[in-house]
Amino acid sequence: MRSILNEKNLNNKKILLRLDLNVPLEKNKITDTTRIDKILPTLNFLIKENAKIIILSHVGRPKGEIVKELSLEPICKELQNKLGKKVKLITENIKEIKNKNLLNNYNDEILILENIRFYSEEEQNDNKFAELLSNLGDIYVNDAFSCSHRAHASINKIPKFLPSFSGLQLDLEVNALNKITSEITRPITCIIGGSKISTKINVIKNLITKFDNIIIVGGMANNFIEYFGNSVGKSIKEKNCDKIVEEIISLSKKEKCKIIYPEDVVVSKDLNGSPQKKELSEILSDEMILDIGPKTIEKITRVIDSSKTILWNGPAGYFENPNFAYGSIQIAKKIIENNKSNKIFSVAGGGDTVSLINHLNAVNEFNFVSTAGGAFLEYLEGKNLPGITPLN
Ligand code: 3PG
Repeated sequence: MRSILNEKNLNNKKILLRLDLNVPLEKNKITDTTRIDKILPTLNFLIKENAKIIILSHVGRPKGEIVKELSLEPICKELQNKLGKKVKLITENIKEIKNKNLLNNYNDEILILENIRFYSEEEQNDNKFAELLSNLGDIYVNDAFSCSHRAHASINKIPKFLPSFSGLQLDLEVNALNKITSEITRPITCIIGGSKISTKINVIKNLITKFDNIIIVGGMANNFIEYFGNSVGKSIKEKNCDKIVEEIISLSKKEKCKIIYPEDVVVSKDLNGSPQKKELSEILSDEMILDIGPKTIEKITRVIDSSKTILWNGPAGYFENPNFAYGSIQIAKKIIENNKSNKIFSVAGGGDTVSLINHLNAVNEFNFVSTAGGAFLEYLEGKNLPGITPLN
């Protein structure tokens, strides 16, 4: 992988910079700026080298449609404030922008193209679309490790058309994860939660061979709870997953990896409702699971105590509402406690997990905090990521 940091002669070069500015937004306000803060060194480096910058990013999953709430506008403003430099959001249709002259119309400004996932060609990994994007720049830089597991045009295909480099944050993440995987000590426990179930459920199968314990919480745990014969009411869950759950269970037995899923839960009628502790057999059809219960917290605490390495990706519940954040906070506190007394090596990853850790002001209490979620897990699986391979 060639890092942009080692490149000479960037003066006046047009850099097509893929970032992951997929930050949490609530009513057009950014609720956690970590992903923006982390890429500032790359932007400052390119500014210092007098390069011209065109940023590409997605936010959310608009699925090829223009969704007003998923505009990059608030992110553009935040970048401008943090950099103290004008950042211009280009809202015109990318397919109608002719060529590199785009930058000539703007003096000394950083450009950011509107949400790249407003175009269906992005997720289709469309060759023509990637070529069209590549016509805007001289050099491509991927500083979006957290979406490098996506085979999308702005991540996987542009490198076909331009000299391509890794950005500073991507270098940092990859080096840290390489170090972790080579120096890891057993027993290793992976805690997987969050709501992006489809991204992770298949990953678990491949992690079983590498870990001693896999603790499944969050949305994905609902598939396990249901598989073992309990109703999950109107909780989120991935459809048609029984086969994969079955495979996970049988492989875990063979590989002697313990799968731990919730024994009790906290439910409510809706996301804003009040919390109620329940046994798995007591969940009603109009209730949704929004956190883990006290017995489960107790069990997870014991597993953390018996581990030497903890990898954590995804909160245990709907932590955005403090009523359902207790389980996630208890997990975080236990990891922090054991980390402080040097009993474990701890790594956390994923947008929501990072938000939670930030909220607890505890980023420095983990050995490494990655901005990536799905990419972090897939990298740990040992997969070749579609965003990294073309840089090599
Ligand atoms: C992330 O938040 O993990 C990345 O931005 C990728 O987002 P996605 O899961 O919607 O592809």
